[in-house]
Amino acid sequence: MIEQQLWHPVIAAHELRDEPLGCTLLGQRLVLWREHTHGTSQVHAWADRCPHRGASLSLGRVLIGLHGARLECPYHGWQFEAGGRCKHVPAAPEFDPPASHVATVHEARERYGLVWVRLGQPTQALPDLPMFEPGDNPAWRQVLCGPYELNTSAPRLVENFLDLSHFGFVHEGWLGERSHAQVGIGQVEEGVDGVQVNGARAWQPRAYAGAEGGAWIAYRYTVPHPFAAILRKDAAEGDPVSNAIALFVRPDGHESCTAWFAMATQGDGSSDEALREFQDAVFSQDRPVVESQTPRALPVGRLAPVTEVHGPADRVSSAYRRYLKRLGISLGTC
Ligand code: FES
Ligand SMILES: [Fe+2]
Repeated sequence: MIEQQLWHPVIAAHELRDEPLGCTLLGQRLVLWREHTHGTSQVHAWADRCPHRGASLSLGRVLIGLHGARLECPYHGWQFEAGGRCKHVPAAPEFDPPASHVATVHEARERYGLVWVRLGQPTQALPDLPMFEPGDNPAWRQVLCGPYELNTSAPRLVENFLDLSHFGFVHEGWLGERSHAQVGIGQVEEGVDGVQVNGARAWQPRAYAGAEGGAWIAYRYTVPHPFAAILRKDAAEGDPVSNAIALFVRPDGHESCTAWFAMATQGDGSSDEALREFQDAVFSQDRPVVESQTPRALPVGRLAPVTEVHGPADRVSSAYRRYLKRLGISLGTC
């Protein structure tokens, strides 16, 4: 399955502290743990199964010693070093474990406030961990929102994020107004790297803190990964706020997913808490509508059980559907 060869966010990085943590990605149980050495911190993601007798390593603990950090199995106390190799069997301390005594190790990274995992090596050219430049830039304030667990597919949610024309209805008075429902789609580019949209425009009733009235706001979008999308709004004349919002979605099945928003902002005076509350409120407006869409999987192919019809303002969503189809994404599509 191609989805196993992609990077996915699994949990917020701040949730992973000194103890190992169990989680599930694409139906596979994982143990995440953190190795602190010399002021740096490295995350690890392994199959949550001890190679000795199959106990859950997430019930174990992280040991710090002269030898560095190790994960200790809760059952017989076998110790595994960061690369997965068993280095110590307490019941037979003289035993030198061979290379076969090894945990199943996956690639893991910490980025944009999230822990990311890739279960398998790509067998074809596939998107890397999504690039979100403002999210790496310390000059931008970083705020993570979520997780939001949703009863719909990851592609339905990403498409909703790319859709400006629902603002005046779902987010009336917040992100749009029904009396100003017209949108500008801008230039849509599709390539191997995903989808880019420049010069999209929507009317916002209160476009930025301190705004007197509504204004047309210009947006840029990128879809660098089948389950991620980034929206940017740059500061403009009279509007000092630059916002970049990345939607990162973990597909949990054909009809369920978990999402986070990584927000990076410059020039916005509101507190982190206020930004989170705003995002929670906007998301609670999206949720009932997005969860009501049937089928929950996104129709991308000719064999989809239903057809959906498109309007001129749907060019971005059509480009996104083609992108999923090009990549061969089957999870959450039909
Ligand atoms: S099951 Fe893990 S040490 Fe025995
Ligand atoms: Fe929305």
